[in-house]
Amino acid sequence: MKVAPSMLSCDFSKMGFETERITKAGADFLHLDVMDGHFVPNITIGPSIIASIRPYSKLPFDVHLMIDEPLRYAEAFAKAGADYITFHVEASSDIDETIDKIRSLGVKPGIVLKPKTPAEAAFPYLDRVDMVLVMTVEPGFGGQSFMEDMMPKVRSLRKEIDRRRLETLIEADGGISAKTIAACSEAGVDVVVSGTGVFKAEDPADAIRLLKSY
Ligand code: DX5
Ligand code: ZN
Repeated sequence: MKVAPSMLSCDFSKMGFETERITKAGADFLHLDVMDGHFVPNITIGPSIIASIRPYSKLPFDVHLMIDEPLRYAEAFAKAGADYITFHVEASSDIDETIDKIRSLGVKPGIVLKPKTPAEAAFPYLDRVDMVLVMTVEPGFGGQSFMEDMMPKVRSLRKEIDRRRLETLIEADGGISAKTIAACSEAGVDVVVSGTGVFKAEDPADAIRLLKSY
């Protein structure tokens, strides 16, 4: 299992330090949650913050856009140093156009499914994206409870990706910790996002090691 700690749970007053600390703790990706106060009822960080922490880690930056117009802002996040840009299929931008735009910027595109969106919504794009992110909480806030009932969605994505012999990664996001990692692993998740589970652990390096062992 690959682990992408969510910086949403770090100490925002020391973001450079936190980026360095979690990189040294063994993270595989850094997950950055961008919220616009419109697509979700919360506001977090934008491209300038991402650009400012970019020098503190060589890890791939996995930028999760919870914003209404991903197409309009893709370039700003690419310039800020994103390696992956994932956006919601429920957002208002045209999906094909947004995938092409992200790809043209030299960044790996991914699509995200909210809990109520079925796996089939991702099927038409599976061969054109590098990642499918399955939300295991309603997007908007860290520290919520894991929705185990999202695992059938992961299984059907796993089945379809394997059937077509694609390399598309399946990422799960929300409420993932030592208690819920087994379900993700059994369902076929490749990358788990963990905010509270890593940053609020006594030792983040131990928490990451445990998640990676699945
Ligand atoms: C929720 C975000 C998640 C969140 C995960 O909208 O997309 O990345 O920060 O945090 P935990 O692991 O605390 O649920
Ligand atoms: Zn996220």
